[in-house]
Amino acid sequence: MEKEPKMEGTLRAGMAASRQIEELLAAETGFQKERRAYQPGRCPALAGGGITRPLDRDSLEVLKVAREQLPFVSQNRLLEIIPGGSPRREPLRLGIVLSGGPAPGGHNVIAGVFEAAKAGHPDSLIVGFLAGPKGIIGNRHLEVTGEMVALYKNSGGFHMLGTGRDKIDTPEKMEQCRQTCAALKLNGLVVVGGDDSNTNAAFLAENLREIGTRVVGIPKTIDGDLQVPGLLQLPFGYHSACTAFATEIGNLNSDCKSDLKYWHFNRLMGRSASHIALEVALQTHPNVILIGEEIEENDLTIHQVVRLIADTVVERAGEGKNYGTILIPEGILEFIHEINILIIKISFIIAAYNREASEDESFHQLSYEDQVQLIDNHDIWRDYDSRVFLGFPFLLQRGLMLPRDGHGNFQFAMVNTERILLEMVATYLRKQKAKGIYKGNFRTQNHYYGYDGRGTFPTKFDCDYAYNLGQTAYVLLADGASGYMAGIQDLHRRLADWRPIGIPLAPLMHLEERKGRLELVIAKQNVDLESPAFLALVREREKWAREDHYRFPGPMQFSGPCADNKPISLLLNALG
Ligand code: FBP
Repeated sequence: MEKEPKMEGTLRAGMAASRQIEELLAAETGFQKERRAYQPGRCPALAGGGITRPLDRDSLEVLKVAREQLPFVSQNRLLEIIPGGSPRREPLRLGIVLSGGPAPGGHNVIAGVFEAAKAGHPDSLIVGFLAGPKGIIGNRHLEVTGEMVALYKNSGGFHMLGTGRDKIDTPEKMEQCRQTCAALKLNGLVVVGGDDSNTNAAFLAENLREIGTRVVGIPKTIDGDLQVPGLLQLPFGYHSACTAFATEIGNLNSDCKSDLKYWHFNRLMGRSASHIALEVALQTHPNVILIGEEIEENDLTIHQVVRLIADTVVERAGEGKNYGTILIPEGILEFIHEINILIIKISFIIAAYNREASEDESFHQLSYEDQVQLIDNHDIWRDYDSRVFLGFPFLLQRGLMLPRDGHGNFQFAMVNTERILLEMVATYLRKQKAKGIYKGNFRTQNHYYGYDGRGTFPTKFDCDYAYNLGQTAYVLLADGASGYMAGIQDLHRRLADWRPIGIPLAPLMHLEERKGRLELVIAKQNVDLESPAFLALVREREKWAREDHYRFPGPMQFSGPCADNKPISLLLNALG
């Protein structure tokens, strides 16, 4: 008789323990739950629906070649979205595709489009293409539902739909996209991406016109280089990635200042421009900051860049400081002229070779020795190129030969530039030590911050920004616009002062060498060496090199005094 309650008690305790284990190992954290509950605000022009109106400005200049290749899209004028119109519209069938590298806020673009379209008419349908542009090419899609939106809102990554870097660059692929959009009877398509994806958007707009599918791009990239002077300050995703990187660099500032024994060489993602390095420097005050655009302006060789770092190491060692933090932008090699020339020549030779070769015999199927031989034998390769190439450390030589991406871009993310520089600095310092010039102790750690920051949660700023971009895209499409990129002006002000616009894509295009050929693509913006943000860095950096003026931003905040942080560079540039 007594045994029964004892067993029950044991059973109850067992169940409670297994519930606890389940809770402890649950995939969703309390933090995620709380983030999902946040509802991004809408700027006043979008709050009641919004309508488009041509902006009373001179039309933007379009290259002749863009007018030829994009005759319809080239006629677009700048649009603004103003409050008004009826929030109730015709039901629309819209597609959305995420492309390129993930950027925090992508899910909020989807949420913005979805909620605006459903508010416009509850029968509107949103389909999400899977795994990037190839989802349109192969008609792989799913219907976006309210449950999905609620589940992914304010989360990082692009995993609701997946992403990819495919280019819609042949008449066959374009035709397949046309068939997909026609089969799904899409009124509109939203392309979320960087320069290459918005280039795709422009060509899709031109080609899908006949079947009535309008196309709008959304500026996305953590790299921060999709900007339009006077019209678009930043793409979404940049602030979140910089904030995540700054957390890490701030932590290393704190570690090196405590232990006093390491120089931390940090490479920061950003394929080409140094916007990320600039923003992270402003947030953390490291001892050395390399900015690619400045290195290019001063035409520095890699050995001069090495000396620039080593000089600070030597100077600080003189004061007994054998530690510090160094920021190296991922894309720095492109700004070192002697290296960039070799990147361009090697890319050209690889593209020319691959055009003739079958897939099994493509350039990267060859042995490294055969690759070098092939390059050596090409007409455009001079003896001087070989001398420069062979003068580089082996790690750099191998890095220059790495495969290009689908667009023919050099993949800077695959080169251990921080390791290359670290080893070159170490070699230089050994010589300085032998001469008695350097008496310090050079102990090092190297780090790469890229994919981690790209996958972080979006900051509150990016949550709101991406959501408003999605809503803007809907209004543009609903009002019949095609061949535009959604934009929000005055991001440095409060959300109540943000102004949504439609930026015509054609004027943003220029000719760029891709896979050895000149192609029409959206131009990227490098760091402006006259910008207030860069000039502020120039004023401060000598002090940061000598003194320990470290800044420790801590983790991303969603409440408290730093929840409404915005990029420091955005705010400095707005101050003028
Ligand atoms: P997007 O321009 O597509 O946003 O991607 C940027 C980026 O994250 C770069 O910073 C980085 O160099 C590159 O993607 C890495 O590419 P991959 O994802 O192919 O490794």
